[in-house]
Amino acid sequence: MEGGQVSDTWERGSPYEQYVGRWSRQVAPRFLAWLDLPPGRRWLDVGCGTGALCAAIVDRCAPSSIAGVEPSKGFLETARHNLGGRVTFHVGSATAIPVADASADAVVSALVLNFVYDPRAALAEMARVAGAGGTIAAYVWDYAGRMDLMRKFWDAAVELDAGAARLDEGARFPLCCQEALESLFSGAGLRGVAVTAIDIPTRFASFDDYWQPFLGGQGPAPAYAMSLDDAARARLRERIRGRMPLEANGSIALIARAWAVRASVAE
Ligand SMILES: C[S@@+](CC[C@H](N)C(=O)[O-])C[C@H]1O[C@@H](n2cnc3c(N)ncnc32)[C@H](O)[C@@H]1O
Repeated sequence: MEGGQVSDTWERGSPYEQYVGRWSRQVAPRFLAWLDLPPGRRWLDVGCGTGALCAAIVDRCAPSSIAGVEPSKGFLETARHNLGGRVTFHVGSATAIPVADASADAVVSALVLNFVYDPRAALAEMARVAGAGGTIAAYVWDYAGRMDLMRKFWDAAVELDAGAARLDEGARFPLCCQEALESLFSGAGLRGVAVTAIDIPTRFASFDDYWQPFLGGQGPAPAYAMSLDDAARARLRERIRGRMPLEANGSIALIARAWAVRASVAE
């Protein structure tokens, strides 16, 4: 994270995969189907993390080239382990992308824009790398709405600890709604701005299957969970458990909504 007061903790790929990587991997193909770009394009994934979107691009888009940019060396290690040889990876930031002007046809970003201190600067960088006529696209979670697994966490956390309100991603990330994304992309001078919701089912076999990934400490909600002492964490767990729509077999069916946005760079 750049410039904020709250640590968002992106270091270790394996717990991230269990927490949110596995769900980003389900949004990615739906996002790419919506973009519907022809094969043979040069792709760049900004904030590629452990490589969820890169993997989907390799599998579905027949890219002529694909690169990922990511500030976390720990995440890059996981991405290289999963995709090394098929994707070129660079250490870098959305606001200083270490590649040449007009060197990609599609510059995309998954679950990143809200963590960038200056998203307008990130969009300007993405447009520089895409060049005239290039595609810029991104998705972010609907933190304040139907990103249910996080919403249930923060609603319970704020009930038990008023201090958690400033950490609640629904409040911290007002960018993550249709109107704000449209306004960010249009305000950057991009053309043909479109936004859509992508809903994926997130089914947990049990409450533990839901809760365990929060103990990995990667991402804002898990970092908050692990900042609590054992008793406070147990209270939070039980408060969430009490609000969960448990099915007869103990499983839990939630929704994760991502807002996806696309546009092109003016010719
Ligand atoms: C929720 S993860 C998403 C990772 C991956 N794109 C995915 O879909 O699973 C957020 C990612 O944004 C990265 N990130 C945070 N600040 C960034 C910045 N200023 N520029 C680029 N990436 C950034 C983090 O390191 C992390 O990999």
